[in-house]
Amino acid sequence: MDRPFGLLAELTHACPLHCPYCSNPLGLAHVRTELTTREWRRVLTEATELGVLQLHLSGGEPLLRRDLVEIVRGADALGLYTNLITSAVGLSPRRAEQLRAAGLDHVQISIQADEPGLSDRIAGTPSFGRKTAAARLVKELGWPLTLNVVLHRHNIDRVDRVLALAEELAADRIELANTQYYGWAWHNRAGLLPSRAQLERAEPVVRAARERLKGRMEVIYVIPDYHSRYPKPCMGGWGRQQLTVVPGGDVLPCPPAHALPLPRASVREHSLAWIWEHSPLFRRFRGTDWMPEPCRSCERRELDFGGCRCQAFQLTGDAARTDPVCHLSPDHGIVAAAVRAADEVTAPRDDVLVPRPHPGRSG
Ligand code: SF4
Ligand code: FES
Repeated sequence: MDRPFGLLAELTHACPLHCPYCSNPLGLAHVRTELTTREWRRVLTEATELGVLQLHLSGGEPLLRRDLVEIVRGADALGLYTNLITSAVGLSPRRAEQLRAAGLDHVQISIQADEPGLSDRIAGTPSFGRKTAAARLVKELGWPLTLNVVLHRHNIDRVDRVLALAEELAADRIELANTQYYGWAWHNRAGLLPSRAQLERAEPVVRAARERLKGRMEVIYVIPDYHSRYPKPCMGGWGRQQLTVVPGGDVLPCPPAHALPLPRASVREHSLAWIWEHSPLFRRFRGTDWMPEPCRSCERRELDFGGCRCQAFQLTGDAARTDPVCHLSPDHGIVAAAVRAADEVTAPRDDVLVPRPHPGRSG
């Protein structure tokens, strides 16, 4: 069996931002259910024993955990490469220096757009100025900086200016990630899905920037899979390379798997090794034996693993079907209809977007 390479630690669902494309679940975990510092220490020790090398600290907003520095220090002592995935709201010079001293290796900051008006509107709170200041601080402290920009109907036409901002901030890497429709993003899909014309305008801009910035800034473009012929090899295959631990201790093959009707597995009841190797949840879609046609006899089955289980569930109600993004899927019409509907909307409409709330105020 493969060993997991990366662990995504969702430390909290609390967040100062309200992005409508958030992939956190609609039923956000309340702060009082979160794993304690001691529980995280055990999880990270078990993760290293299992072979994990990279730790991605995420949320919600991980800076809202008072023990973040302690968690990073513990991870560093275990030899893990640590990446902080943050909105940067709350990354004061003092906190940044503490994290640097604790051994944090890398910082990834989300930005919502290239200018304050739109960025703050998408984030649902004034934050653009704090984000750019924090990005400069990250570079001053000598960290590698990744900017992550989730693309959708409201900002994709500004991708040239987003790239210019990343250049100005001397980012080492930019991830232009077309929205993945899970959690709040799924809830807001009609208001977020870009039209084909928008994507066709953005793609040459990204290609040209990638060429121009070669050797200075890595430009990653996460493909908009609703508009692709084949699905993405989600998570590199179910239970194959990655695992996610959510704030309350459940372990998942990927963050949106919380929505699937499968038995839960928690670090509060089992070791991480047992969950990875033996839990029904991780075994359910591992490998290719579970596949239906057309995947079962398809030559791409070990390239994309039949696509995304969470997307198949969301679109068809059955996680064991071929991802409807695939043009060979018998359910492909569902995706084609959503894309056609997006093409018919002529202007972005903020009013159809539901902002992600704070935990405790949601379902
Ligand atoms: Fe991938 Fe299945 Fe489509 Fe083949 S039929 S390309 S394996 S999703
Ligand atoms: Fe869960 Fe793709 S996000 S399998």
